[in-house]
Amino acid sequence: MAKAWGGRFQQETDLRVEAFTESISFDRRLYEADVRGSQAHARMLAHVGLIDRDECTQICDGLDEIKSEIEAGDFEFSAELEDIHMHIENALIIRIGDVGRKLHTGRSRNDQVSTDLRLYVRDCIDELDGLLVKCQQAFLGRCEQDENIILPGYTHLQRAQPVLAAHYWLAYCEKFQRDRDRLQDCRRRVNISPLGAAALAGSSLPIDRIFTARELDFDGVAANSLDISSDRDYLIEFVFVLSLIATHLSTWCEEWIIWFTTEFSFITFPDSYTTGSSIMPQKRNPDVLELIRGKTARVVAAVPQLLILLKSLPMAYNRDLQEDKVAMFDAFDTVKACLELTPSIVTGAEMQRENIDSRLEDGFLDATALMEYLIQQGVPMRTGHATVGKLVTHCESRGCRLADLSLSELQSACELIQEDIYSVLGTKNAMKALISFGSGGEKPVADQIKLWQEQIGA
Ligand code: ARG
Repeated sequence: MAKAWGGRFQQETDLRVEAFTESISFDRRLYEADVRGSQAHARMLAHVGLIDRDECTQICDGLDEIKSEIEAGDFEFSAELEDIHMHIENALIIRIGDVGRKLHTGRSRNDQVSTDLRLYVRDCIDELDGLLVKCQQAFLGRCEQDENIILPGYTHLQRAQPVLAAHYWLAYCEKFQRDRDRLQDCRRRVNISPLGAAALAGSSLPIDRIFTARELDFDGVAANSLDISSDRDYLIEFVFVLSLIATHLSTWCEEWIIWFTTEFSFITFPDSYTTGSSIMPQKRNPDVLELIRGKTARVVAAVPQLLILLKSLPMAYNRDLQEDKVAMFDAFDTVKACLELTPSIVTGAEMQRENIDSRLEDGFLDATALMEYLIQQGVPMRTGHATVGKLVTHCESRGCRLADLSLSELQSACELIQEDIYSVLGTKNAMKALISFGSGGEKPVADQIKLWQEQIGA
């Protein structure tokens, strides 16, 4: 088969070179974006008179047919034709002859591949946004299910202060919201048209780049052909956002893996989301959560992979750039698969209320509330901190809780302590005492639940 670029070549390409340089094995998924981009390009060529109306119709119809063939699985791919762009153009030429040979007027594969990738990433962003909303809704849904459950809040994985379980769930809503915001911000830079930058320098033909940008719903046209044909910033940004989404999912998984241990026993999962051991009959392992955590490694690794790919490239296009897709597709597929599983795991899990409650008075979760009580009685914060510290040591030596201390014992530590201290001591009281905006107490959490319901309530 004659190569599209074969004019100046006298020898056939070595078959091993063909196999080495091909990208069709992974870029065929760009077919839809490629057809969309080419149809817009053809309409532009007709608009400025570089082809006539009839030729434009033949090209657009031919491309539609090729697209259907690919979707039906009837299209033949071969390493000989390198990439998806050559495949589609070649199929068009076979179909409509010389008219098909006009499609590539005023463009190059360099602006074409960037256009396709931007269209593809734009669709990915929109899809991810929908998946993230579903995850937020799943966590928001738990708030009602787990009403009144109090959880120990941890720092350093040591018991710190109590919060409502809903506060944990809404924390994930916040994280995913920032991911969604980041995606939208990234989308603004993705959504710029490179089409017509051609190989690197633009074109001497009277092409209309604003026309194609409008046709493809781009928000603007890139102003420098050299820059835009070498630019992959948008891919790095996109993959970075993917890596943050994966990191958020991974930390959630880590937390729930810990909660699922016999030691914690905070949570259980339906059998359908756990797996067994081939040797230990009693085992029920949180493999799905572990794999979400594990797969995060390659999503995160895609960020340095792309940075390293770009860091030594002179302007403008270099074939190295073909490798950008390998990293991005894998990162996207991985995050998408994780996000698709997440809502059912979140919804299907069950909190072990009794186990949680039975140990809720352990670990002095009310110590900070006691200190803040002292502050309200006029005790300087550092003094209050030291006083409560001493009381905690005293309790530890006696094997009791702060709430078990008598009023006179408490008063001997600080005479400003009154009978009303017992409405602050104890984990439940300490949770209720949290009133500041954004805290894990009843009122602030209820306010946030309401806001989230208004925003994403299903
Ligand atoms: N398959 C190539 C890529 O993914 C398309 C661009 C090829 N351009 C070139 N001048 N060889 O980057």
